[in-house]
Amino acid sequence: MQGTVFDSRPEAISAQITSDGYLTLALSPSGDQWTKMRMVMRSGVLSNAVFQRLHEKRLEEADHLVRYVYKQCKNPDSNGRMADGGAGVEEREHVDGLFAILSCLYGFAIADFLPWLVVLDLDGHKKKITNAIKNVRRYQDPEIKKRIGMWEKGLKSEEDDILDLLINLKKSVEWALAEIDILAKASEELDRVVAKIQWLCGYFIPKGSQVLLSRPGLGRNPRVWDEPLRFRPKRHVHDEDSVVVLTDPELHMLSFSTGRRGCPGVVLGSTLSTMLLARLIQCFAWRPPLSTNTIDLAESEK
Ligand code: HEM
Repeated sequence: MQGTVFDSRPEAISAQITSDGYLTLALSPSGDQWTKMRMVMRSGVLSNAVFQRLHEKRLEEADHLVRYVYKQCKNPDSNGRMADGGAGVEEREHVDGLFAILSCLYGFAIADFLPWLVVLDLDGHKKKITNAIKNVRRYQDPEIKKRIGMWEKGLKSEEDDILDLLINLKKSVEWALAEIDILAKASEELDRVVAKIQWLCGYFIPKGSQVLLSRPGLGRNPRVWDEPLRFRPKRHVHDEDSVVVLTDPELHMLSFSTGRRGCPGVVLGSTLSTMLLARLIQCFAWRPPLSTNTIDLAESEK
């Protein structure tokens, strides 16, 4: 029951604008449309076969990263030039746009509770997200259109990356165009399930509440972690031969989350994280900058 009650996502103006009316799997309220999108994602994009097929592509990307760090070591003043494989102005602006969206997504916005205030945009989220999306799309849309054009003109016959997969999926399934009144269905389902539950683990949860998992609340819980504020990565290694697993269904920390809305990209995400880290450790000798003995591990704003 808990899995069903908590597996929807709230209707929020920030999520609606970002996902073009809830067409994004991660932001879509639960219901038929979400079920379909998730199924297509799992079987079409994040399947084992695709994972194996894109192995070479991952190696290529890892080589880019190593080459970039190598060039930075050789020429530390270059400030990450594009010629060295670093991010160019476009990539920086693209990523800045994504972070601007993330900083507002599901943030408290009064118009989510009093919809008639939406035109006033009192917290400025609507304007900030709309501008950020414009910026993000300015860079990604032409690339997507170019690739669609290549498939249409027959200049491409092999799927080389996830964008190719998504283009072909769209052609064959047209998942995003399913004729379903997404929101009406989702709200109906949610009302039906939520109506049944008000008390959970001794807490009273009023109907329609949004329940947020707190990343620091879980990851720094002193009842679960010994000296949680100390950076001690070894706490995750239980014996010399144990493999470090990034998933945590018990939610001692929030990595890929869990349950029906848990991340379907666990294998890809874990592989990329461990492979890239391993490459960086294997290919370079790391030490603090000459001017300092310690490294400030405080988290940045981003
Ligand atoms: C280290 C890498 C990754 C981490 C830490 C991560 C973490 C997460 C978390 C915590 C959620 C749950 C969000 C929520 O509760 O709303 C999530 C959802 C999701 N993730 Fe990941 N993820 C990673 C990589 C990936 C990759 C590589 C993909 C696909 C290419 C992916 C696709 C998704 C999707 C589609 C959802 C939404 C699922 C749904 O709502 O049904 N993730 N991820």
